Amino acid sequence: MSDRFKELAEEIKSFSVSNDEQLESYRLRFIGRKNIIGDLFAQMRDVPNEEKKAFGQSVNELKNLAQEKFQELINGLNSREAEEEDHPDLTLPPVDNEFGSIHPLTATRQRFIQIFERIGFNVSSGPEIEDDWHNFTALNFPENHPAREMQDTFFIEKNPDIALRTHTSSVQIRVMENEKPPIRTLSPGRVFRNEAISARAHCVFHQMEGLYIDKNVSFADLKQTLYHFVKEMFTKDTKIRFRPSYFPFTEPSAEIDISCQICHGDGCNICKYTGWVEIGGSGMVDPNVLKNCGIDPEEYSGFAFGMGIERITMLRYGIKDLRLFTENDVRFLKQFNSL
Ligand code: PHE
Repeated sequence: MSDRFKELAEEIKSFSVSNDEQLESYRLRFIGRKNIIGDLFAQMRDVPNEEKKAFGQSVNELKNLAQEKFQELINGLNSREAEEEDHPDLTLPPVDNEFGSIHPLTATRQRFIQIFERIGFNVSSGPEIEDDWHNFTALNFPENHPAREMQDTFFIEKNPDIALRTHTSSVQIRVMENEKPPIRTLSPGRVFRNEAISARAHCVFHQMEGLYIDKNVSFADLKQTLYHFVKEMFTKDTKIRFRPSYFPFTEPSAEIDISCQICHGDGCNICKYTGWVEIGGSGMVDPNVLKNCGIDPEEYSGFAFGMGIERITMLRYGIKDLRLFTENDVRFLKQFNSL
């Protein structure tokens, strides 16, 4: 019998493994529920009484040996794996690099900035969580304006009011408070409105607002600047028109329309058969707003405009549903690989 013990001890000691399957076969033979050492324990019954003690001791030793060895084999495999991670096999073929692409909204924002940088605008940013002053009051919003209602705006706190900004005009207030004219700045960023999500509206979208304050800035400057912008952003033959409108912070105010990029004026469902699509709002900065920011309206004047980056992007690429921008569907995003 002692030869059998020796044999098994030898087998355990010399066992080596280089993968999980080999480790498992060791486990089944020496550790698992019906292992070979267990069989020896079962044979105890037939061993003569005077040999029982020595037999039992030997089987126990074998059992301990098997267990120690098992731990050793596990440790060996683990450190081997760690080593392989530290020293990858450099002879293996390379894994393909998957390059992503610029999101269409980012492409439009970048193009926007490029166009305006060339005519002297810089880029400014501000917080997405705004106080009432920067989002509403300084912008000349009357006390009972609907945008100040819970249904239109996401309020974080009431009295004093803290809300998610509804436009990046709030950034323009911050710039005017901190800088002296001349000011030429673009404020891109996320804005939030309490709206139901559909193909044409979302509770989060991106805006690009622009502000120009200097001596003798007139509505002619506003028109010429935006005309230049649409020709650069869309095509050279894009037409622009201004429709009288109302915003609390500009006077006079105008809605900006461009000739439909889809049907080029023939009439389609994007332009609702009018040949024109609205791309944003604009106007001459209201003297009250300048005063609120410590700028003398007798000395300075300026214009401002605001557009939705989503809207511009949809027109640029003929995208029909706003929700595609945030669905993260690679089939949609791949179409912009060349941007
Ligand atoms: N802030 C306006 C909006 O979000 C857009 C706008 C900006 C209109 C500047 C006029 C002038 O709707």
